[in-house]
Order: sequence, then structure tokens, then C-alpha cells
Amino acid sequence: MTMNDSLEMVWGEIRSLGLETYIADLDAHGYTVIPPEIASPGDLAERMLTAVLDVAERRNGVRPDLETGSTHAGFKGRFAAFAPKDGDSPIGDLMQSLLFEDRVFEEALMNPVLLAMASYLCGYSVVLSSMGCFMKGPNKSTFFLHSDTPLPSPLPPQALVCNLTYVLTEFNRENGGTAFVPGSHKWCRSPEGRDAIVGEGGNPNAKAVECAAGSLLCWHGNTWHGAFNRTASGLRVSVPVYMSRPFIRTQEGLIGKIPDEMLDRNPPRFAILTQQGISYGYESQDDSIVRAQVAAKYLQAYGEAQGMGTATARGLYN
Ligand SMILES: [Fe+2]
Repeated sequence: MTMNDSLEMVWGEIRSLGLETYIADLDAHGYTVIPPEIASPGDLAERMLTAVLDVAERRNGVRPDLETGSTHAGFKGRFAAFAPKDGDSPIGDLMQSLLFEDRVFEEALMNPVLLAMASYLCGYSVVLSSMGCFMKGPNKSTFFLHSDTPLPSPLPPQALVCNLTYVLTEFNRENGGTAFVPGSHKWCRSPEGRDAIVGEGGNPNAKAVECAAGSLLCWHGNTWHGAFNRTASGLRVSVPVYMSRPFIRTQEGLIGKIPDEMLDRNPPRFAILTQQGISYGYESQDDSIVRAQVAAKYLQAYGEAQGMGTATARGLYN
């Protein structure tokens, strides 16, 4: 697939889905909000919310209190050590590895709107790095600004990673929504020092994003983002679908871990998205041969489904 072919293909997807203005917004600001009626047609977002509440109940033994947020107030968990003042977590409960928890997450990954945005940012060889859930109650700690690109500065201008976050409860400043520095994706560096602080005395350009439940919040991997603390009652719930180019080390290791029945019930692109087209990580000569054959099988099926032809499909990861 040549660069022009893939550009034309993704632009065709963007036009047919009516995403042109969101792409313009993304290019200008480094992030964009796709509203619920486009991002999560039908009841996708509602079913995702029910599913993550179920996951929380299974993992923690208590059903989250969506109304008051009492189950997650002042949550002491991941990143609490980074919180300078009060020791509560700036992100709440981070529940990882959702893909195997409910079939709605397969649907969320295969959402054509999400895939068009991810393909625009990271190409047709984009893979899922991780799909988790942030569940945050009232808290005091803000989450520091950072870029998601896992490299030291300077960062390359093209997106090596991207974040497509399903917003499952309303985001705004009081609700502890995501903070963004508009245009920061063009600076090709991560924030340091005072630039990285969200809230009082911190970066004056950090703005709280405002979006309704059911929106898809999309950003370029270089865009500076963090989060405000939640002063409102209730829970902030989101499912970040973090995606990367296939040569980046992924957060979840899915190669060879997807059951056949899950692969069989999804289109060929699902295998590529879940890393089955990657052969790296071999442990021996024999393993390298087997892995290359398995990866080629999935790449070929994807290539045929996309009308690319085998040679170009295999060239996806070159
Ligand atoms: Fe991030």
C-alpha cells in the first residue's frame, strides 16, 4: 500500500462517516470530541458503562456508586505516590485488560468511527496497546500533564500512538475531566516542571474538556494532557482505547493470546488490531519461523479483506 493509497482510503472513511470537521479540529488543537450520536450510535456507551460497573464489582467485590462516588472517594491507588498533597490517586481505580471481560469491548474496538480516527493518526497497521477503564470519585489530586508518546523529547511530529477515549459519564472541570493544552502536539516535546502541573499555580493553558457521556475523545500521542480533580459527587468513568504503531512496545501483550472463537467472530482487521500480525518477540530460531508464518496468515487475510493484496499487506509492517 503506498502512502497515497492509504491516505485516499482513510480520507474516504472520514468523509463517509462525516468526520471531516473533527479531523480539522484534531489537526489544529491536537484533540477533538466526537459527539455521542456519531461516536457511539445505538446504546454502545450505555452498555459499556454497565459492563465496566460489572467488572468493578467482580474485581473489587462492591458495585460502584455512580450517584455519590462514595465507593471511590479519595481512592488510594495507582499514582497516589505522585500526588503531592493529599495522597489520593489522581486517576482513581485503573482497571486494565478489559477486552476479555465482555463482548461489548470487542464492539468498541471495531467501531468504524474509532478505527477511522486511529487509522488517520497511526496508519492501517495500528494496533491496540491497551483498553482499560478509569473510574474516579471525588478526589483532591490533579493528574500531571504529559504526552502519551513513550519516547524522550524531542518527539517526532507524526503520531506514534493515539488515544481514543470513550467518555461514559459527563466530563467537565468539576467532574474531574481531562485537561488539554491546545496545540501542544505541534511542540514535539513533553512538558516539564511547572508546565506539567494542572490546577493552581500550574500551566495556565491547561483547559478542561467538556463533553457529554457517550462522546469519543481523540488525541494525538504528543498532545499534553492530564486531569482536574473531581469536586463534584459521583463517578467519572471512561474507557481509554490506547493505540500504537506496531513497532512500539504495547502495554498489553496480546500476541497469541486471543482465543480462536474471538478471532472467528470478528472481521480480519480484529486480528491485526489485537497484535496477531506482529512476529517480533521470538525466543528461538524455530519460534521466529512459526511466529512469522502465523503473522503472515493474519496479514494476508486482512490484506484480502481491505483489497490490498498479499504483498502490500505484508508490507504493512515494513
Ligand atoms: Fe495519558
